[in-house]
Amino acid sequence: MTNDYNAADNARKCYDVAIQAMREKLHGFRQERIGDCWLINADCKEVLPLLPKVEAVVTDPPFEKEAHTMGRRLNRGVSRGGPSDVMVPEILSFPPITSDLRDFVAGWCSDKCGGWALAFCQAEAISDWRSSFESHGSKFKRSMIWVKPDGMPQYNGQMPGMGYESIAAVWCGNGQSRWNGGGKHGVFTHCKNSGGKHQHETQKPIPLMRELVFLFSDAGQTILDPFMGSGTTGVACVKLGRKFIGIEIDPGYFDIACKRIKDAYAQPDMFVEQSKTEPPRQLDLMEAAE
Ligand SMILES: C[S@@+](CC[C@H](N)C(=O)[O-])C[C@H]1O[C@@H](n2cnc3c(N)ncnc32)[C@H](O)[C@@H]1O
Repeated sequence: MTNDYNAADNARKCYDVAIQAMREKLHGFRQERIGDCWLINADCKEVLPLLPKVEAVVTDPPFEKEAHTMGRRLNRGVSRGGPSDVMVPEILSFPPITSDLRDFVAGWCSDKCGGWALAFCQAEAISDWRSSFESHGSKFKRSMIWVKPDGMPQYNGQMPGMGYESIAAVWCGNGQSRWNGGGKHGVFTHCKNSGGKHQHETQKPIPLMRELVFLFSDAGQTILDPFMGSGTTGVACVKLGRKFIGIEIDPGYFDIACKRIKDAYAQPDMFVEQSKTEPPRQLDLMEAAE
């Protein structure tokens, strides 16, 4: 009796079956390819396990439940059928982050991100993000801040207004961390209302996201935003010659992100950085998903 079993051959077949299953699952999601951007309309918890490695994650996840239930005031020109400066109490339309989702995203980044992971959060949540990342082996490097000179004043006069958001900066790569900011501080000052009309309740200014993408990645690299909202991280990536993968669960915001990213390509920037490297091989799965 001959033994035809070949372990290497069997492993290759198992791998092929797994890749095929992943491709089929990816095909089930609504997705758009726009230039070097791959946008997926789905829950990031379902999509992330199917994605290839990326060089950086730059994301603005939902905040913790305290920030979602306070009753926010809108004055940023988000279209709600009234004048753009009307102040209306509003609860955000998307749910707050849960500790499970935070931990899942931190775990994915620690496994699949080869460089920086930046996550916006409330100052009070920095330690939660830090613990999640560190429990998966990543290195928390800095709590940075985005200063908003036009932040909402505290109208009741009982305490100072907030005026800033925190950003957890975590190194998920091997070896020594490096960034493009030299000795600069992790303090970024940009008006909330800079960079065009807002189409998302918690939209980030494009100049802020450009600065972060520029400092924490290199031209030609692939940046992931698993909570892309209206796609501001993607717009920054287009303007800076980075590849982008964006995931958004809300179909309305997904449509807005697609349009903003198309528009960003249609208005070329004179100062787009050219890629210094060959396109990374890990984009193969993106091609397979077409
Ligand atoms: C803080 S907003 C991001 C805003 C974005 N920075 C911008 O400039 O438009 C967070 C987004 O994450 C989305 N989201 C929440 N849970 C998600 C999930 N599990 N998977 C994918 N997107 C999710 C929400 O619908 C929301 O649009």
